[in-house]
Amino acid sequence: MELDKAFVPTMGALHAGHLSLIEIAKSFSQNVVVSVFVNPLQFENSDDLKNYPRDIDGDIAAAHSAGATEVWTPSYEEIYPGSVEKISAGDLGMKYEGEGRAGHFDGVLTVVDRLFRKVQPGWAIFGEKDFQQLFIIKKWVKASGLPIEIIGAPLIRDIDGLALSSRNIRLNRDDRKSALIISRALKQATHERSVDSARDRLHDVLASEPSFTLDYAEIINEDNFEPATSPRKGRAIVAGWVNGVRLLDNMPMAPQQQTQKVSP
Ligand code: PAF
Repeated sequence: MELDKAFVPTMGALHAGHLSLIEIAKSFSQNVVVSVFVNPLQFENSDDLKNYPRDIDGDIAAAHSAGATEVWTPSYEEIYPGSVEKISAGDLGMKYEGEGRAGHFDGVLTVVDRLFRKVQPGWAIFGEKDFQQLFIIKKWVKASGLPIEIIGAPLIRDIDGLALSSRNIRLNRDDRKSALIISRALKQATHERSVDSARDRLHDVLASEPSFTLDYAEIINEDNFEPATSPRKGRAIVAGWVNGVRLLDNMPMAPQQQTQKVSP
C-alpha cells in the first residue's frame, strides 16, 4: 500500500525555513513531496514576479538533502492547462496582506487546490511566517471537506532576529539593519500586558525607524483573525517595506501575557 504523502508546497529559493518544513513533513510520512512553482496568479505586481528569486537546481538539491523523496517542478501549463477559475478567499482575503495585493489570496487558494489535486497528500505543511495564508488555507480545507491535515510550522529567524524569507537576499547591509526594527517591535509589543498597549508599542517602535514604511501592524486573535480584544490567542502581525523589499513577520503574545489573571 502506498504511504500517504506529506507535502511541502513552495515557490522555490529554498532557505532554512523551507528546509524546516521538510523536516517536519518527514515526521508525518517517509514519502515527502516538495513542489517548486512560482505562481503568477498570486503576484499582483509584475516587477515582484519578475524579481522573485529563482534557483531551480539549487532548490532540487537542497530539498533532496533535507529529505524530500520527490521534488516536483511543474510548468505553468501543467498547473493551469485551460482557463482558470479562481477560488475566492472571501473577506479576509482582502484584509492585511490582501488589502494592498488584490487577488493575492485567491491566487494562493487556486494554486494550492491544483497542487493538492495532483499530489493528493495526507498532510501539507505551511510556515507560520505567512500566518494569514495558513489561516485562510486551513479554513478553506475545512470548508471544502478535503481529507488533508494542514500543519502549521514555526517561523524561523536568523540569528539577528530577521524572519527568514526568500526576499531577504535583496536587502543590503544597511537595509537589513533597518529591517530588524520589525522583530524588535514584535518582541516588545508581545510582552505588553494589554492588547491596546501592545498595539501602541508596535506602532511606536516601527515608526522609530525612518527607513521602514509600514503597510499594516495589528494584534489579531488567532482563532478568527479579527483584531484581538485580549492577549489570549493574540498575535502581532506586521508588514512593510525597506528599500523596495516587502517584509512580513508575526509573533504570538508572550505566554505570560496570554495566561495572566485578570483582576476582578
Ligand atoms: O507560501 C508560499 O510559498 C506560496 O504562497 C505557496 C503556498 C507555495 C503557494 O504558491
